[in-house]
Amino acid sequence: MRRPLCALSVLFVLQACERKVPHSIVPEPVDVRPASGTYRLSAATGITLADPEDGELARVADVWAEPYRRGTGLPLPVGDASEGIHLAVDPGASEVGPEGYRLEVASSGISIVGSDHAGVFYGLQSLAQLLPPGLEPGDATVPAEGVAVDAVTVLDEPRFSYRGMHLDVARHFFDVEFVKRYIDLMARYKLNRFHWHLTEDQGWRIEIDAFPRLTEVGAWRDETHVGHGREPFRGDGRRHGGYYTKEEIREVVTYAADRHVMVIPEIEMPGHATAALASYPELACTDGPFEVARTWGVFEDIFCPYEETFDFLETVLDEVVELFPGEYVHVGGDETPTSRWEESDYVRGLMFRQGLNDVEQVHGWFLRRIANHLAERGKRVIGWDEILETSRSLPPNVTVMSWRGTVGGIEASRRGHDVVMTPTSHVYFDYYQSEDQEGEPLAIGGFLPLDTVYAFEPVPGPLRERDESRIIGAQANVWTEYMKTPDQVEYMVFPRMLALAEVVWTPRNGKNFRDFRRRLDWHLRRLDAMDVRYRPPEG
Ligand code: ACM
Repeated sequence: MRRPLCALSVLFVLQACERKVPHSIVPEPVDVRPASGTYRLSAATGITLADPEDGELARVADVWAEPYRRGTGLPLPVGDASEGIHLAVDPGASEVGPEGYRLEVASSGISIVGSDHAGVFYGLQSLAQLLPPGLEPGDATVPAEGVAVDAVTVLDEPRFSYRGMHLDVARHFFDVEFVKRYIDLMARYKLNRFHWHLTEDQGWRIEIDAFPRLTEVGAWRDETHVGHGREPFRGDGRRHGGYYTKEEIREVVTYAADRHVMVIPEIEMPGHATAALASYPELACTDGPFEVARTWGVFEDIFCPYEETFDFLETVLDEVVELFPGEYVHVGGDETPTSRWEESDYVRGLMFRQGLNDVEQVHGWFLRRIANHLAERGKRVIGWDEILETSRSLPPNVTVMSWRGTVGGIEASRRGHDVVMTPTSHVYFDYYQSEDQEGEPLAIGGFLPLDTVYAFEPVPGPLRERDESRIIGAQANVWTEYMKTPDQVEYMVFPRMLALAEVVWTPRNGKNFRDFRRRLDWHLRRLDAMDVRYRPPEG
């Protein structure tokens, strides 16, 4: 934001900053100023566009209005209206940066000016949160006199450009309907990156035309271990699986784009590859046979760096790139045991030919090669922070996800890489939400309460004094070994996702856990109205 409003003048500080409006918007906007009067949103309210020819703006309006039309009977037509909500995109005149907006509610009408279309979309999300929670988007009926929205001016823009949620659909499969709901809920809280973890030891979830066995074989496991991975194996006797067709992937990508969410596919390599090896055992260093994993953990059999493996992976990635228009493809790189490579004559020969001193360097060489392949197709690679350790010379456009704490992120930033912070300590939503695990659904372990998520500062201290520009944002990870159903995912994600939203959107000095906790109560009603499961927060 070019000028924080509260710094404009002493007069303004007295007028506005002291009279903080007790609103319920999450994430907390940069600035909320009171105004006088009330607008009545009613059947007479329409939506007008500054540029009626702007189809993308019309889409923003429709995507926002549709749940109200369906759920409340408000017609909210887009086009000519004598009164209502006026939408405009104005990159030059608005006081806010990318994805920012100015929202003004006055008794005569509502105006949202975004610096871009995403900004207008976010202005509408804030407006939604100024409406009563029952309208959201349940089957409330709006009284004839309409619903009151108090006059207010909001000026807002995000702190970070990368505001992510991850979902592991490989340990347990979740259908398109749920994935879309997840994305919709993200977007309502101004999160804009959906990291779709599509391949794993326990399942391959994306249709690839060149390799049909990936989904004929790799998408299914005969049964699943019951209880914790560390306990002796006990199968549930139930076949589990599923995958997304290309048509379904396109549907999700379009749905997400309508909500200004970029979908980032993850195709894991060279580890966490058992489902692919069960489908095509010739890609492993040993003979197999392999089965799609029925239990959890880290598996010794990984992709062998044969030329045929690169042909396979590059073909897979070429099909993936066709489906996902966003700039990133995630290629994993974490948790890669190297015992099979150490035992392989082929890998020893490769190390000799490539001048690689140890098998760790093979890991770096492997991922560099894949990153270069994707760069030729105009894509940027994201990898987990292990990729820093095995490669001294990653292509500069590789983005690092720092998950084993923040040390990897600091190192990556020093080496000139973009960084997304996802440390287990603050944003692993598969961790328990209560210290007392009795009464909680089985989870992987750990303890990550709401206030710890809220306290997360994505820019580590050592970078704050130097250059924080490489930290492009943060993301919460949702690994689903112990989440078998959509309800269980929602229980682990909410309300922690709302705390994350404030971590990545709100200015560092604008956060206040007590005030967040107050606003959260209103959002719990909103989540109730949308039938979203959540863990009731303590206190
Ligand atoms: C990870 O949690 N293995 C990235």
